[in-house]
Amino acid sequence: MQTIETPRDMQKLAEDHRRAGQSIGLVPTMGALHEGHLSLIRRCRAENDVAIMSLFVNPTQFNRQDDLDRYPRDLAGDSGLAREAGVDIIFAPTVEGMYPQGYQTSVTLEQLPTRWEGTSRPGHFQGVATVCTKLFTICRPHRAYFGQKDYQQSRVVRRLAADLNLDLEIVVLPTVREADGLALSSRNVLLKPEERRQARVLSQALFQAQADVRAGQRDATRLHAAIEDRIQTAPLAVLDYVGVCDPETLVPLEKIEDRAVAVVAASFGTTRLIDNALLEP
Ligand code: PAJ
Repeated sequence: MQTIETPRDMQKLAEDHRRAGQSIGLVPTMGALHEGHLSLIRRCRAENDVAIMSLFVNPTQFNRQDDLDRYPRDLAGDSGLAREAGVDIIFAPTVEGMYPQGYQTSVTLEQLPTRWEGTSRPGHFQGVATVCTKLFTICRPHRAYFGQKDYQQSRVVRRLAADLNLDLEIVVLPTVREADGLALSSRNVLLKPEERRQARVLSQALFQAQADVRAGQRDATRLHAAIEDRIQTAPLAVLDYVGVCDPETLVPLEKIEDRAVAVVAASFGTTRLIDNALLEP
């Protein structure tokens, strides 16, 4: 396994692999790897000749300095896990390498970031869209792997890849969960024990909504209210948003006709968590 630091070296290496006729897969991460990341890496490993994992805690997608400061970092641990899961190349650039002095170009989407995570975290998706576009042009992947866990992000990335004619396939894989349903997240380690216990209410509320839709519920307003009520049974949960929306545009729905997605965000103490579930009649 190689670790590459500069965008220029990474680009050269990717170009060499492409010229040799090898397919390249990329898993973009911010490190603090868990089973969710590893599921993406394993799939990437299985589907490509060369598996690249990028590891970059991207400052431009954090709208709060304290969130950036306390984001868990463990390069040594991550390298071991990445190697075991079959990564060939870790691309771990510096902030200065990615955003050199004078940097002033970014990628902005018009509609998708106007709600949910986009309004709760102003600038977040501009940061995500910009860094992903850069990672794609630096690592030159044929396929890039993302988790459904960050549902809106996966829609943003799919959209920008289509809109900018990026010649790569975006693969989105299911959310990996703890035994009690909590979606794995690098931020989970920041939860205090009682917060961690109550955080399972998010997935419970979403699973209940899935069951309600399967049982015939089509009224999005009622589903929305039921999810909200369930989350609020946890005394430590501070609800940010609940949305029952179109799975592509993320615009809120009134009635479930075809597929829908429920998205939620809530804080437990100082840790903010998100989750989502597809609702399918
Ligand atoms: P990060 O939070 O490190 O997540 C990296 C990838 O792992 C994302 O595609 C995310 O959706 C996926 N992931 C996280 N938790 C998961 C889970 N429980 N199950 C399945 N997949 C999961 O998302 C980012 O980093 C950044 O925004 C990034 C795309 C790297 C751009 O900076």
